[in-house]
Amino acid sequence: MKKDNSKKLRSEDWFNPGDPKSAFIHRSWLRNQGYPNDYFQGRPVIGICNTWSELTPCNGHLREFAEFVKRGVLEAGGVPFEFPVTSTGEILMRPTAMLFRNLASMDTEESIRANPLDGVVLLTGCDKTTPSTVMGACSVNLPTIVVPGGPMLNGKYKGERIGSGTFIWTLKDKIKNEGFTEEDQIEAEICSARSAGHCMTMGTASTMACMVESLGLTLPGAAAIPAVDSRKKVMAQLSGRRIVEMVKEDLKLSKILTKDAFENAIKINAAIGGSTNFIIHLQAIAGRIGVPLNLKEFDTLGSKIPLLVNLMPSGKFLMEDFFDAGGLPVVIRHMKEHLHNGAMTVNGKAIGDNNQNAECYNTEVIAPISKPFIEEAGIAVLYGNLCENGAVIKPSAATPELMTHRGTAVVFETIEDCHANIDRPDLDIDENSIIVLKGVGPVGYPGMPEVGNVDLPEKILKKGIKDMVRISDGRMSGTAFGTVILHVSPESSVGGVLGLVETGDVISLDVPNRKLHLEVSPEELDKRKAVWTPPKNLYDRGYTNLYTRTVQQAHLGADLDFLVGNSGSDVSRDAH
Ligand code: FES
Repeated sequence: MKKDNSKKLRSEDWFNPGDPKSAFIHRSWLRNQGYPNDYFQGRPVIGICNTWSELTPCNGHLREFAEFVKRGVLEAGGVPFEFPVTSTGEILMRPTAMLFRNLASMDTEESIRANPLDGVVLLTGCDKTTPSTVMGACSVNLPTIVVPGGPMLNGKYKGERIGSGTFIWTLKDKIKNEGFTEEDQIEAEICSARSAGHCMTMGTASTMACMVESLGLTLPGAAAIPAVDSRKKVMAQLSGRRIVEMVKEDLKLSKILTKDAFENAIKINAAIGGSTNFIIHLQAIAGRIGVPLNLKEFDTLGSKIPLLVNLMPSGKFLMEDFFDAGGLPVVIRHMKEHLHNGAMTVNGKAIGDNNQNAECYNTEVIAPISKPFIEEAGIAVLYGNLCENGAVIKPSAATPELMTHRGTAVVFETIEDCHANIDRPDLDIDENSIIVLKGVGPVGYPGMPEVGNVDLPEKILKKGIKDMVRISDGRMSGTAFGTVILHVSPESSVGGVLGLVETGDVISLDVPNRKLHLEVSPEELDKRKAVWTPPKNLYDRGYTNLYTRTVQQAHLGADLDFLVGNSGSDVSRDAH
């Protein structure tokens, strides 16, 4: 390939620094992997940042994907080097994968900056692997492209679609009330995980894939392609080709991640019925790249946007159906009157231009904007004495009749307290009660787990009731549903009013007016506050100690305070 002399590549500081000793050191050891000399002669060096792990089953196919990216990089004249970063698998990690999102972002950031890379391809899949790597990459700000790993094929159980995650939230009811046996369960487990890929509902992983496509960080149409579809491999290869061009064009993340791009992502997330976790991750990404974004904007920009996608948990289809119907490009085209169509994307073109010819092949899955599934679908942000800095609810996944509700609190101090007592026959609770769960925020748990959609008490389920108002400082799986108020800030464990709620207090919820109010007098709250003591920090060392001391509250994105912002890609000192 002809060398582009217009700008010195960052990697040349390692491979051709003008000092023979330094060049020898940097090149010689790499040669043990069998690279010819021209690899070190001014070709763009591309890092393939891989979140592959057998312990992150949603990303288990990404080793193979890296080979397709490498193919593309080589074809375009670049040099690919694959490297691993911390992989945050949602299913197995304790106490919650979210605790490690920021750790994985640090790993990504430092791995990129410390190495001789000119551009980066991020291979992502399971929920946190997308925001963590994007956050880390933003703090370095090299040309970067994301290849989302893709959803699993549709779950199918006894002829019916079975959505990964979403099915689980009905399991307790099925076992207790519908004669669902252990054999049924084993069969359903395999039926809901038929292939490589991430959850195939519009859960958090699919939401994250759509988020990066909406932000302009993927090639058009990348988000919805199933993991095992051959077109996903093509997408990986084309992304490999494209990142080399992006390096030559110096198309850095900060040129794509503008305020317009973030506003587009918020609106598109509303139109697809995306997860509430989107909020916390998008804010953390905005914080890294330096774009101001506050919680209220998710409501002002998104809450009036119509729901155009009929996917579980809000609807009835799955990601494979979404892809077959035309995928995210169709939504972007339908949404053009709401979007900043000139926002730049990784292919060097505007988002509006990329998607202007997208065709919808199934209006049962993707509705036209003139006939949406729900008129106003975006996330609502609530304020009140119970959540001074905000709390969130996803109305499209909630029960319309409960959007305005006044009820008596039944309080659980911890999730363990909740598990131990919620099914007690003598628990004084009915369908009008409001379940309040404390101690599941960023500091309190720690890590803000997805437990906010507490299972309903057995005696309520037996009445055939499927939903109640639930409030917590935790998160909810993107695959879940219900009238669930989440991300209460400040959280209970750092002195938020949520920590002062007692069983029997009356709480009023008014989603249309964005209010969440604890009907307890300020004097009484002062009295309770005077005797309140924060829970003891049980973590006297290690990452968890660092996390609990520095994590920001949910309304800011729950990043570690010292990680917000970026430091660029320069490293002034060498190792030798
Ligand atoms: Fe990985 Fe759902 S568990 S995406």
